[in-house]
Amino acid sequence: MSPAKTTTSTAVGERLPYLLAKMKAPRVLERLEHTAARAREEGWPYEQFLETLLEAEVFARDASGARQRIRHAAFPAHKTLEDFDFAAQPGAQKPLILHLAQLAWIAERSNVCLFGPPGTGKTHLSIALAIRACQAGHRVAFATAQQWVDRLEVAQHRNALDDELRRIERYALIVVDEIGYLPLERQAANLLFALVARRYERGSVIVTSNRGFEAWGEILGDAMVAAALIDRLIHHAHMITLKGKSYRLRDRAGATPSGRPRPQTP
Ligand SMILES: Nc1ncnc2c1ncn2[C@@H]1O[C@H](COP(=O)(O)OP(=O)(O)OP(=O)(O)O)[C@@H](O)[C@H]1O
Ligand SMILES: [Mg+2]
Repeated sequence: MSPAKTTTSTAVGERLPYLLAKMKAPRVLERLEHTAARAREEGWPYEQFLETLLEAEVFARDASGARQRIRHAAFPAHKTLEDFDFAAQPGAQKPLILHLAQLAWIAERSNVCLFGPPGTGKTHLSIALAIRACQAGHRVAFATAQQWVDRLEVAQHRNALDDELRRIERYALIVVDEIGYLPLERQAANLLFALVARRYERGSVIVTSNRGFEAWGEILGDAMVAAALIDRLIHHAHMITLKGKSYRLRDRAGATPSGRPRPQTP
């Protein structure tokens, strides 16, 4: 390329840094020079040039949006479906879990109920599905049943329960972890009911529990409230019951899940 032409093309693109900064498209700016050189060299059509630059910006934005949503969801740990050992958990049928990972149930405002004894992967799967939801652009919040109740109690004391429930409605998915470890006071049970009732057909819930529904009357201290809550929860829901011994115990036994001995650390 002749020096005269280079000067002209620089002049032509002179305002691009300013315009791209205004458009808040820093990745386009970062890649502009390199992509333009490649496009010239390889004789790209204009459309391909624009597509390549915009793709870089959109992919980066999606990734940073997902990171923000994951941070905001306040998961107690980062657990993924890729880390989940399906062979160790026959209760979690891989095709069903992978189907749930496609998230059609969130669009349908359906729920997922995960049951099973301690350490069988309920919290792990709930986080893994919820992370997929964050990556797909959904707003998500994670808390234990007790933490949800505490949050609603604070709002109720401020006479702002309805506002708080409306705020929670903005999440496409909430995870209510650990229903059943602590029995709830009457008032707390009513608040949990209010939460589930408010989300019914409006937003999705994942619940995890170490006790079957038959024990929820006892946990909530009121058979009627439990029945009404369960009714709303399961009207549109996928049920998964995990089985077996705690994965934590396998870990402690010093063996990897596959049964191989854990490598010794010096
Ligand atoms: N099948 C699995 N593959 C890989 N890791 C697993 C599996 N099951 C459980 N784990 C791991 O074991 C630990 C306990 O699992 P998790 O916290 O999900 O259990 P839980 O069913 O929620 O138990 P609890 O009722 O005590 O809350 C976690 O670190 C989790 O990542
Ligand atoms: Mg758990």
